[in-house]
Amino acid sequence: MKTNQIKEPNGKLGVLIVGINGAVSTTFLAGVFAIRKGFAKPIGSVSQMATIRIGKRSENNFPFIKDFVPLESIDDLIFGGWDIRNESCLEASRYAQVLEEKDLARVADELEELRPMKAVFDQEYVKRLSGDHVKEGENKFDLMTQLREDIRQFKKENSLDRIVVIWAGSTEIFIPLADVHKTKESFVKGMKNNDRNISPSMLYAWAAVSEGAAYINGSPGLSVDIPAIMDLAAERNIPIAGKDFKTGQTLIKTVIGPMLKTRMLGLNGWFSTNILGNRDGEVLDDKDSFKTKEESKLSVLDTVLQPDIYPELYGNFYHKVRINYYPPRGDNKEGWDNIDLFGWLGYPMQLKINFLCRDSILAAPIVLDLILFADLALRANMSGIQDWLSLFFKSPMHSPNAVPEHDLFIQMMKLKNTLRELMNEKQITHVETEPAKSELERQA
Ligand SMILES: NC(=O)c1ccc[n+]([C@@H]2O[C@H](COP(=O)([O-])OP(=O)(O)OC[C@H]3O[C@@H](n4cnc5c(N)ncnc54)[C@H](O)[C@@H]3O)[C@@H](O)[C@H]2O)c1
Repeated sequence: MKTNQIKEPNGKLGVLIVGINGAVSTTFLAGVFAIRKGFAKPIGSVSQMATIRIGKRSENNFPFIKDFVPLESIDDLIFGGWDIRNESCLEASRYAQVLEEKDLARVADELEELRPMKAVFDQEYVKRLSGDHVKEGENKFDLMTQLREDIRQFKKENSLDRIVVIWAGSTEIFIPLADVHKTKESFVKGMKNNDRNISPSMLYAWAAVSEGAAYINGSPGLSVDIPAIMDLAAERNIPIAGKDFKTGQTLIKTVIGPMLKTRMLGLNGWFSTNILGNRDGEVLDDKDSFKTKEESKLSVLDTVLQPDIYPELYGNFYHKVRINYYPPRGDNKEGWDNIDLFGWLGYPMQLKINFLCRDSILAAPIVLDLILFADLALRANMSGIQDWLSLFFKSPMHSPNAVPEHDLFIQMMKLKNTLRELMNEKQITHVETEPAKSELERQA
């Protein structure tokens, strides 16, 4: 293995989770502990379960990704994090009601031990939440400095040399890009002046990158997706990635959308609605948080279908996304998609998808993959936006002069080719031809 430009994952990897008591975080943590103890398999995790082809198809060489690239082992992750309520991750898992008591019981000790640090939180940015496990400070700069101190302390106490910070906190209200986000100088000034356009998730991102930690944004808010923090990340050689874990209906959209375009079938309309009863659903019931989510979910089809290039097929489709808070369903979301498409001579057809999924069960393996790949990027000196990780995001971060890639299978090809390149293996373009040999010749 030629890993000359990647540092080996020596020691343990620190993982700091913002919103550590949420449904996604606790489901992720309980899963990691269960996998470590041999009670479960990492189902849904690309880094743990997927293989990667090396060389020609005829060479039959398909190692597991985790054996091909030097990823940190799932056994060597040390967890910590912040939340607004001072309860253990065990209590929080019970509140989330994603996992059954029999599954929690097997990892109760590990979950009980984990307690959040005080959060930087302001209800102005998440209207439906309140909590008292919250830091106090002179201004936003002071609060950000306290987060930096938390990261340093965590690193020191656990003798760590690498940290990944991941935002799995609630969706904040919609904040459009503003002048204060544009340069490092304006951002620092804004933190000191308590600028309203600087939300808590941006303070975590700035603190993480300043402390040399990779930062991942799992929710749709801007957080790290602002020029000031991107510049800081480039300057410090830090990988960043986001936004918004790609789980239920958007995952489907980035498979069905490319299918329509691949076969040049037209689209008149796509109506997506769902019912969801967890705390995320409650937060998204507020119109300002929903707007952040809506922006993230709506952008997908336009980018995939390119209506400007294919006006006859996609120039006029109606796209609606709704999320309905419905407590009886808890984390078990039910989504309906109605797709009005058209084909030869314009004849209409319909496609209906009814996905009875589990939000946090779909998100948890993504959290694991993002942490391990972000750490790989950190050790490989890959700084700035990691667009090869777009596979995991609804609204992948991208440079201002490039459009994001949403097609799930192109995203996967990009991820695998990036890994091949990192390991000095040939990229696979799928144009190579294999030597033709008939079955009879092979048997002879
Ligand atoms: N579950 C999915 O399929 C999925 C998919 C895409 C994105 N997401 C996003 O992931 C995030 C987490 O989802 P969830 O279902 O776990 O939600 P959740 O409400 O169960 O958890 C969010 C946690 O964040 C905490 N929190 C909020 N603001 C905080 C702050 N400033 N500092 C520290 N902690 C804070 C809350 O107290 C809560 O414990 C949400 O933003 C959601 O939109 C989830």
